[in-house]
Amino acid sequence: MKTLVTGGLGFIGSHTVVELLNEGFEVVIIDNLSNSSMDVLEGIERIAGKKPWFENVDLKDKKAVQTFFKKYDDVAGVIHFAASKAVGESVENPLLYYENNINSLVYLLQELQQKPEASFIFSSSCTVYGQAEIMPITENAPVQQAMSPYGNTKQMGEEIITDTAKVSNLNAVLLRYFNPIGAHPSAEIGELPIGVPQNLVPFITQTAIGLRTELSVYGDDYPTSDGTCIRDYIHVVDLAKAHVVALQRLFAKKNLDKIETFNLGTGTGSSVLEVITTFEKVSNQRLPYKIVGRREGDIVSAYANTDKANTVLGWKAKSTLEEALSSAWKWEKKIRS
Ligand code: WQD
Repeated sequence: MKTLVTGGLGFIGSHTVVELLNEGFEVVIIDNLSNSSMDVLEGIERIAGKKPWFENVDLKDKKAVQTFFKKYDDVAGVIHFAASKAVGESVENPLLYYENNINSLVYLLQELQQKPEASFIFSSSCTVYGQAEIMPITENAPVQQAMSPYGNTKQMGEEIITDTAKVSNLNAVLLRYFNPIGAHPSAEIGELPIGVPQNLVPFITQTAIGLRTELSVYGDDYPTSDGTCIRDYIHVVDLAKAHVVALQRLFAKKNLDKIETFNLGTGTGSSVLEVITTFEKVSNQRLPYKIVGRREGDIVSAYANTDKANTVLGWKAKSTLEEALSSAWKWEKKIRS
């Protein structure tokens, strides 16, 4: 039996493929290379010492999805990463996001619901909670009106999967990520942002390497200890491992519900200034930055209550912020060398 990883050459997808291969899974990757490259496949092979199957398929092409499932009729589990993820772009071009993120999901599920049984892991986001009232955030915190079409595709995705599971043999795990950062410790794979990074950590590493002049810190007048926003930064390798555990749970039929939801974070919130200070420590250099105005749409604080993932899933993030930032820095230095 094979496990399909869509978006398997992307940031979180590639790290998950490595962990699956390490655990002995047979993996087939679908990726349309819209935000990735074939070099990533080579990186995966160098780390794992094994070669996954690879198909360049665009999941928006319904016929191509059908053809894929005819060819790979032994796919029993799917981890679905393939999606567009830039919040700002989604506001400017909502239909692109609805087409990319929703159509592809529907076509995948249409194939899976024909199977006698299917296991599905969905790449969701803490963005579904918006600004939660209670910290740390549990899975029971209410889902709030999405702040962007991107966020809405994650909420809708969760609902589409839940509705499908009710009327089919689909079992699914919805994984709500907090802020994934870092790279594989081997520096063979990592994050490859296109253009100017929107996320904090790639912007920091690109500034430190000299690609950007300085980091803009978006606001220091928030109601937090140092005035900057709080997030839960989780090492991408820890995150990747959670997908393997979730899939094993479904394959072993240990799930208590057809749909289970887990927060994936460390449980610790860090401010932007703390991230900068920690980065300066691990990289042993000063990071040029200036405080600017708030960024529209930013929430003040978000960090996970990880009790459910720890006890039910039996998974816990192990890496520290230092280790995660240090791996991100190692990766940045490697790709610019
Ligand atoms: C982190 C903090 C910024 C850049 C991300 C995804 C979003 C969702 C949740 C997936 C914030 C500050 C950033 C910079 C800064 N994930 N910052 N200067 O906002 O939590 O959102 O995670 O679904 O889609 O984008 O992450 O890395 O953009 O920002 O000061 O140049 O860093 O204000 O406080 P965020 P981020």
